[in-house]
Amino acid sequence: MHLFDRKLLFVVGKGGVGKTTVSCALALAAARRGKRVLLCEVDGVSRAARLLGVEPAEPGAVGPVVEGVSVMGIEGSAALAEYLGMVVPVRRFLQAVIASDLYQYFVAAASGLKELMTIGKIFFEAQKTDARSGEPTWDLVIVDAPATGHGLQYLRMPRAARDAFGAGLVRREADRVVELLSDPKQTAINLVTTAEEMPVNETVTMAEQVRAELQMPLGALFVNRLHLEKFRVSDIEALWQASRRSRHADKKAIFEEVAARAEEESGWTDINRRYRKQLSQKIDLEQVELPLLFAEEFGLDQLHELVEVIEEAI
Ligand SMILES: Nc1ncnc2c1ncn2[C@@H]1O[C@H](COP(=O)(O)OP(=O)(O)O)[C@@H](O)[C@H]1O
Ligand SMILES: [Mg+2]
Repeated sequence: MHLFDRKLLFVVGKGGVGKTTVSCALALAAARRGKRVLLCEVDGVSRAARLLGVEPAEPGAVGPVVEGVSVMGIEGSAALAEYLGMVVPVRRFLQAVIASDLYQYFVAAASGLKELMTIGKIFFEAQKTDARSGEPTWDLVIVDAPATGHGLQYLRMPRAARDAFGAGLVRREADRVVELLSDPKQTAINLVTTAEEMPVNETVTMAEQVRAELQMPLGALFVNRLHLEKFRVSDIEALWQASRRSRHADKKAIFEEVAARAEEESGWTDINRRYRKQLSQKIDLEQVELPLLFAEEFGLDQLHELVEVIEEAI
């Protein structure tokens, strides 16, 4: 089953490996296939919106559409306040509640509450239908999760809530959320990593946790920022020799620099190759290999390059 035929795609991984980048590329790729896509950036810094070149909206509000993608920032405390707004309809009273010390204390003390509200908000968007046509508002909701520990923490919450409450409203709601998140026809948890020691180790652990503990369906494994250039040893040696032979200081420096960079690049390519192999031995998932793109500033052009690679691969 194609990833884009699901309803809800989570993108998880260690900090800095490229979750936001991959989420944006996935969103653009799905939109190109005609999907109405909502991209949710959880507890982020509106990097997704900026990468796509749109002005971020308030947390919890749908931002402008870019190339068929709508972007929403979700922030735990804003999601909680929004939820309370539905439960406590008198605005003046609600504001007094939120401003109170007691509320602040309650939110700080009730660990997991903000995460639960965040997942609740994502669930709400995934289920949302157009009031007139009854059609789903979004074909696909993509969630750019925060860094590792936190990312899985969000996914843990619905089950924890379900187990904590007996029969009743909360239990029923939590059941529905768990059902959606566990259904491989609707949800996929996608992993992003770079092919280096630490991220690979963390990713192996995460894949295991998603499968065994969360019992949620895994999607694709995105191996990002791959170095793919392997220079011939003889070519590099020729550069070193040229540098040694050169009598002009400028030329010497250039040869030296090029030789060193080529050596470094080959080194990274070897490292990446080794850890890609480890990944395929330890995680039984389709790998999508994304090249490291050299650019002064990573922007929409680079994103589109990744979109093309993703379209080919999945
Ligand atoms: N394929 C790539 N090639 C080059 N740079 C990349 C690539 N993917 C991500 N980056 C850069 O790596 C940094 C971290 O990416 P980001 O998506 O913000 O990671 P995360 O959301 O996991 O913290 C950013 O500066 C981004 O531009
Ligand atoms: Mg990010």
